[in-house]
Amino acid sequence: MNDHTNQETQHHGDKPVKRREMSRRQFLSYTLGGAGAFMGAGMLVPMVRFAVDPVLQPKSQAEWVKVVEESKVTNEPKSFKFQVHQVDGWYESSPELEAWIAKGPDGKIFALNPTCKHLGCTVNWNGSPQFQNQYYCPCHGAHYTIDGKALAVAPLPLDEYEVKIENGFVYVGQLGPNKRV
Ligand code: FES
Repeated sequence: MNDHTNQETQHHGDKPVKRREMSRRQFLSYTLGGAGAFMGAGMLVPMVRFAVDPVLQPKSQAEWVKVVEESKVTNEPKSFKFQVHQVDGWYESSPELEAWIAKGPDGKIFALNPTCKHLGCTVNWNGSPQFQNQYYCPCHGAHYTIDGKALAVAPLPLDEYEVKIENGFVYVGQLGPNKRV
């Protein structure tokens, strides 16, 4: 064995075979390097987790929001505003939203979102004299039935809020695809 290179040459048949041995210095540097990397990773993981976690969390389910007394809802849709508390990653906000709330022929109360499904303008009930008893969007003329069914321009019906009645009040919840049409 050659002390300087820590390499030993053996003959195996015709071919020389080199065997490397680890010096004390190499052993120490590998061991300390590995321990350092382990400790570094241990510090890094919580930092990365802190940075990324809120983004990976599923968005919190919408809570029920009390909007109006049940007695104020009629067969004619009316606009009601309400505030929701939203948490998106690190960002918290309380935007004001709007729902058009009406009572269906079955007596059940439903709530539609006024965001036009064409390009996102806001629709109004009876917003055009040309389209009586319909929702109308002033931007490009989309119009919808009382249940939110798209009659022109928009590709989809108006979205619908979940609704529950509790102690004489109408609450709206999660917004989702229209189930009435
Ligand atoms: S955004 Fe409503 S019709 Fe285009």
